[in-house]
Amino acid sequence: MTVRIPVITIDGASGTGKGVVTQLVAKRLGWNLLDSGALYRVLALATQKHGVSLENEPVLQILAEHLDVKFQTPETGELPHILLEGQEVTDAIRTEKIGNAASKVGTFPSVRAALLGRQRAFRQSPGLVTDGRDMGTVVFPDADVKIFLTASPEERARRRYNQLKEKGIDVNLSDLIEELRERDKRDQERAVAPLRPAEDAVSIDTDRMTINQVVERIMLEVTNAHIENACGKKGAM
Ligand code: C5P
Repeated sequence: MTVRIPVITIDGASGTGKGVVTQLVAKRLGWNLLDSGALYRVLALATQKHGVSLENEPVLQILAEHLDVKFQTPETGELPHILLEGQEVTDAIRTEKIGNAASKVGTFPSVRAALLGRQRAFRQSPGLVTDGRDMGTVVFPDADVKIFLTASPEERARRRYNQLKEKGIDVNLSDLIEELRERDKRDQERAVAPLRPAEDAVSIDTDRMTINQVVERIMLEVTNAHIENACGKKGAM
């Protein structure tokens, strides 16, 4: 008998708090975590490293198919160390420049198809919490709980600004607003897997909510779906 492994998808635009919320929900449940944006970011970094143009779809596809990326997770729910070709790139992929390049490589259908299997491979017992743009619509359409986070553009820019500052990355707020706008437009308008809520997703406007309130709200959906102990806790037999 095969046991069905539950999945919670948390999609939304950049700056909606997806990353931290996903990490906290995964930690609470003791489940695995997939930050799908990190895969697109690593691919974007690989294009730089190998001098591949962001327009060259056939070569980008090959690069995506052979991408030597490893996520090393110290503890369940902790953020993984990310290695590209054996080199630590955990911080290097977090710049806005790489975020923008990731959004460009993500417009190509063959690139997205090449990354599909890798993302689905993260569905391991006891469960998966994943964040991105198309987790609920394309990658895990059968997810047990689908969340779509929203926030106003001003709030998202402010959050991204603070986040990048905290990481010691120098940013200019008006440049950031402009870049977010461009990236949103590209993510929403691309032909394949555009940023949009799944029909059965629960949308949460996070503008006036703290991170913990968002996590609690999602945990309520998880409780209602009766999936918390579907496969026990990670590491438990
Ligand atoms: O979420 P994050 O900002 O790290 O994602 C970087 C970029 O990668 C996004 O702007 C988006 O274009 C792309 N992406 C995607 N599909 C996903 C996750 C990210 O196209 N599931």
